[in-house]
This record gives sequence, C-alpha cells and structure tokens, in this order.
Amino acid sequence: MHIDPLEKTWVWTVGAIVAAMLAIIFYTAFSQGVHPPSNVETIDSARLHLTEEFAEDNLGVKTNPDGSVTLTMVATRYGFYPQYVEVPVDTPVKMRVAATDVLHGFHVEGTNLATMVIPGFVSEVNGIFKEPGLHAMFCNEYCGYGHHYMWSRINVVERNTGKS
Ligand code: CUA
Repeated sequence: MHIDPLEKTWVWTVGAIVAAMLAIIFYTAFSQGVHPPSNVETIDSARLHLTEEFAEDNLGVKTNPDGSVTLTMVATRYGFYPQYVEVPVDTPVKMRVAATDVLHGFHVEGTNLATMVIPGFVSEVNGIFKEPGLHAMFCNEYCGYGHHYMWSRINVVERNTGKS
C-alpha cells in the first residue's frame, strides 16, 4: 500500500501531539492533583433549608481555623444566595454550592472558578483571588426563563475586612 510521505509525516506529527497531551494530563493529574471538579457528595436538595450547612442563616463566608475561608451558597431559580459576599484577597477559598431545584452552574467572572451545580450534589471548587476587586458570578447552565438574571457578586477585599 502506498502512503504519501507527507501523509506519513502528519500521522506521526498528530500521534506525537496526542502523546504529548496525554503525558501532560497524566503528569498534572498525578503530580499536582489537577482534576475536573468531581466532589461526589450527595445532599437532599428538597431539604437544603433543614440542613445545618445550607440553612439560610448559615450561608455566606466563614473563616476557618487555618485562616482559609469557606463560601457556602445556594443556587435556586433565579439567584445565588447570598447575592453579595466579601472574601479576603490572597486567601484559599473553598466554594460549596448546592441547588434547590434544577441544574444550575456558576462561573466567577475573570477566574477559572466554575462548575455545574447539580440537584442532589454539593459542588465544591477551590481557588484563591490574587487581587482585590468585584467579580460577577453568573449561572452558566440554562435553568429557565430567568437564567440570564441569575447572578451574584463576589467582592474581593483586603484581608481582615472580609465579612459576609
Ligand atoms: Cu441558574 Cu441558569
């Protein structure tokens, strides 16, 4: 069978690219723990308000003993609650979000903090805001007529003033 030399070159080139990408994926996965958001933690979405963590009074920003913060939010048609939070700059932030009704998602503008929020599960992502400033947090999964106005604001502030 005749294979054009140019074609052969490209078969090897593409093969090398695929091999390089797989190597990068495995390297970052095993050496740095890089993985898609996959926090498999279930919760009864219809009874969020009866849980300790996602009860209305307990939402927002909490400072942990090690100085990091946990941001707990509820996604529901059509908003993330609380609608405005302040988190400290240069501090590890763990976002924990649960939905009450249908599939939502969130994306914090200008960052790589984004994930789906699936009813029945707690979505968790970790990040650090490197600079002070206001970020919009949008719903990025179509969830109904009000989807386009489902958003909250995350204000990144200097340390010690971060209260929800
Ligand atoms: Cu919630 Cu789109």
